[in-house]
Order: sequence, then C-alpha cells, then structure tokens
Amino acid sequence: MSVGFRAVQWNRAKIVYDVILLTAVVLFIGVFLVIAYRVDPPKDLPAAIDLRIRAFGSCAFLMLTVILSIGPLARLDRRLLPLLYNRRHFGVLTFVLSSLHVFFMLQWYAVQGTLPNLMTELTTWADYGKFIGFPFKVLGIAALVVLFLMAATSHDFWLAFLSPRAWKALHMALYVAYGLVAMHVALGIMQYVHTPLIPAMLFGGFGTVAALHLLAAWRERERSSPLAADGWIAVGAPEAIPDKGARIVAAPGGERIAVFRDGAEIGALTNLCAHQNGPIGEGRIIDGCVTCPWHGYQYRLADGCAPPPFTERLATYRVRIRNGIVEVNPQALPLGTPASITCPAIAVSQ
Ligand code: HEM
Ligand code: FES
Repeated sequence: MSVGFRAVQWNRAKIVYDVILLTAVVLFIGVFLVIAYRVDPPKDLPAAIDLRIRAFGSCAFLMLTVILSIGPLARLDRRLLPLLYNRRHFGVLTFVLSSLHVFFMLQWYAVQGTLPNLMTELTTWADYGKFIGFPFKVLGIAALVVLFLMAATSHDFWLAFLSPRAWKALHMALYVAYGLVAMHVALGIMQYVHTPLIPAMLFGGFGTVAALHLLAAWRERERSSPLAADGWIAVGAPEAIPDKGARIVAAPGGERIAVFRDGAEIGALTNLCAHQNGPIGEGRIIDGCVTCPWHGYQYRLADGCAPPPFTERLATYRVRIRNGIVEVNPQALPLGTPASITCPAIAVSQ
C-alpha cells in the first residue's frame, strides 16, 4: 500500500465524518422524542420506553437506508465519493443503535415484570404460520445477528484473514438484513399502529434504495464500451482520459478495468483494490502512484505493484493505441505484470 497505516487510522477527515454522523443521530432521536412527547405524551413508564424503542429503531432503519444508498449515489456522481469513506463506522454505529432499540424493548418487558412473555411469544410455533400475529421480533433478531457479524468482522484483521472477496461477499449480507428489518416492521408495528408515517418510512426507504441501484446500473450499461473485432475494448482518445485520473470500462464478464493516464503514460489495472475491493478507478494518481479513494492504498501504474516495502499487487491489462483510440485487452495479466505504455502523441505535445 503506502500512504500506509496512517490512512486507515484516525485522521481529520474521519473525525469530521464521525462528528457529523453522531450529531445527525442525536438530532434525529432528539427531534423524534420531542415531537412524540408533544403530540401524544406517554401516560406511564412503559409508554415512555416504547417511544425510545421506536426512536432508535427508526433511526437504525434510516441509517441502513443511507448506507445502502451511498454506493449507487457515489457511482452516479463522483462528488459524493467522500461519503464512501469511513462507511465502516456508519455500519458499526447502526449496529449500536439497533442494540439500544433491543435494550429498550427488554427494559419495556422488565419494568412490567413480563420478560417470560417474550420467550412465550418467540416459542409459540403456531404463530409462525400466521400473517397477522407473526412473531415479527424474530426477524429483528435475525437482522441484528447479521449486523453483529458485520460489525465484528469490520476490522482489517478479518479482511486479511477472510480475503477481500470473501469479506465483501459477507458484507453483501447487509441487503439481507435490510429486507429482514423491512419485514420486521411490515409484519410488526405496521399491523397495529395505524399512522401513515410508518409505511411512508418503509416504502420510501425501500423505494429509494431500489431506484438508486437501478439508476446506477442503467447509467453504467449506457456507458459500456464497444468491443473491437479482436475483443479489445475501446476506451476513447488518450486526452479523453483525465490526466492523473481514469476511465472505467466493463469487460464482457462484468469485471471492471480502470484505465489511468499519468501525462503520456497509460496503463490499465483491475478496478478492485487489494485492500477492501475499493474502486481504484475512482481514485487519482498522487505522488506518482494510483491511490485508492477509500483508504489511500497506492500502486504503481506501470505494473500494479505497491511501492516497497508494501507487497500488494493488482492484476494489470494490456493497452494499445489504434487509430488514435486507447484500447484495453480484457484478459487480465498475472498480478504485478508490467503493462503500461507511453502515448507518442501526448509525449510529443508535452
Ligand atoms: C437490525 C435490527 C433492528 C432494526 C433496524 C429494527 C427496526 C425497527 C423499526 C424501524 C421499528 C418500527 C419503529 C417505528 O417506526 O415506530 C421497529 C419496531 C419494533 N422492534 Fe425492531 N428492529 C431491529 C431489531 C429488533 C429486535 C431484535 C427486536 C426484539 C427482539 C425488536 C423489537 C421491536 C419491537 C417490539 C418493535 C415495536 C415497537 C412498538 O410497538 O412500539 N427489534 N424495529
Ligand atoms: S485502500 Fe481500502 S479499499 Fe482501497
């Protein structure tokens, strides 16, 4: 890597991100409780605790919605890329809020001395066949287990231990957790509390995530590059690749390739960072190295290797210039194979 361990430890950008995140959470819960107390003041302690259950649950649901929207939003508009940074803290905080939601629920039973009822609810097997009266809490438990697994494996140790591909696959389970929470709300509170706010939150959140993913996928299909007769992919004129930036093209199998330009040097790397599969092509060339936008791992454009003493290597791809157009061969070369070229037209004009 190189920008090194400093980039994944505390720095100003991370602290600012976290402060904004915590402020938004405190504001959401504060405003939720103030409005709820004004509209319908709780009559007893269990009713007051119930409001906390709802405030923390709603906040966690909205946070999940935002986390799942960040990926497509960043693909649609590169200016939103900083949102991707530090998404891990966002996820861990969502797990903390979900746990507090459950804590208040346990407190709700405890202050009434009815904790055994919770066990009865979860083990009345006949209710699992019902639509109205389904033990919706079990769906919440399953979602919480997924969030726990993700928070527990969010550290880089697990990334190295599990391999970036397996780690990413595990973290895709967030979509499963989101679906479980949506069912938890639809089969739970939505059945007995009749306010339009709950379906609005549920369908609004779900609809936003689905619409953003569809839009980002459609935009990417539109941008997909034409194939030459011999299977090479056309990237565009050399000057169309931003200097010290990249153009991302999709190989026929779906694999993305980042074609970078550093002055007159043009090279192609896999779009997946060796650290956490971050989108290399959305990064820039800093200090002569391709720098991942997520945590700053760096690679040489010439051969995809991290500068010494680091040892990460990326797959590279052959590039050529034909009829003034940069083309890339979608067949990945072995990790760390030198493959960049110098563009004579740009070298002459410089
Ligand atoms: C990822 C974990 C979870 C999330 C994100 C979540 C989210 C939510 C949301 C959004 C609501 C509706 C709140 C409202 O709009 O008023 C809710 C309700 C509720 N949740 Fe969860 N939940 C989770 C896990 C759990 C678990 C594990 C349990 C219990 C074992 C649980 C028990 C409840 C209860 C009892 C309600 C209804 C509260 C009421 O009647 O006022 N939740 N949850
Ligand atoms: S540096 Fe972390 S994903 Fe690239």
